[in-house]
Order: sequence, then C-alpha cells, then structure tokens
Amino acid sequence: MANAIYIINGPNLNLLGQREPGIYGNGSLDDIKADCNAFASKLNVSIEFRQSNHEGMLVDWIQEADKKARGIILNAGAYTHTSVALHDAIRAGSVPVIELHLSNTHAREEFRHKSYISPVAHGVIMGFGGDGYLLAIRAMCTLLDSTNSL
Ligand code: DQA
Repeated sequence: MANAIYIINGPNLNLLGQREPGIYGNGSLDDIKADCNAFASKLNVSIEFRQSNHEGMLVDWIQEADKKARGIILNAGAYTHTSVALHDAIRAGSVPVIELHLSNTHAREEFRHKSYISPVAHGVIMGFGGDGYLLAIRAMCTLLDSTNSL
C-alpha cells in the first residue's frame, strides 16, 4: 500500500502464541496485526503488515518500502543478530526505521545483545510484548509529524 507505514516481521514470528509463550506471550501475530490496524485507524494512518521467514524477502520488502512507505517498523527476529544484508538494505534507503522486539533482548542470551539493525535504526523499542507494536506506530507517527511527512 502506498504511503503506509510498513510493519515487517521476520522469522518465526508467525509462531507467536505457540512459541515460548513465557517470553513472547499468548497472542498470535494475527492478534497483533488486528491491534495494529485498530490503532492505526484511530491515528488515521495506514499500515502494511507482513511476515516472512526468508531473509531475502525481508530485504525485498525493505527496498519496496523505501519507494512506497513513510516509515518501517521492523522486528527482524533472529536476523537482527546476524544480518548484514538487512543492515545494508536499511542503510541504502532513506525512510526512517524503528527496530522492534517483543522481548528485551539485552536481558537474554549474549548472542541476542548484538543488533545489526540498531546502528541504522532511528530508534529501538523492546521488552513490551505485543504492545510494543502500538508504541512503535505512535513513535513513527510522532517522528513523521515532526518531519512534516505525515
Ligand atoms: C525477537 C528477539 C529475537 O532475539 C528473536 O530471535 C526473535 C524475536 C523479539 O521480538 O523479541 O525471533 O525479535
């Protein structure tokens, strides 16, 4: 969708609700998507919500968003900690990116402390579960408003 905020989700996030509920909660990604749509319509913005398990697909969507979107909210899942390709895709573009995680990755295993996304993100929201998606939409709207592109 043109002029939308893209919300891009990476690997294994399709399993939310079944996957490690003690860490990620009981809600499914569809529940989060429904909450995002309801919140976005209150704020009068449109969102494009996607999930893929494939790194190259995420790269394609970041490139697409750079042409079509106002901003990107990205939960890159495990690729956060490994992907130079996602880092480069964000770096190549000019739309603002908010990095998002349901869990506080700094309070978890050491391999989750490194992010290839953070150095090229405008900001990071983590540790608030599914609510983090709504916080990120709010933050993106404020950011876009302050740069007059909303
Ligand atoms: C995650 C954190 C990552 O470390 C993990 O690999 C995920 C989910 C989160 O939202 O908390 O898949 O991005």
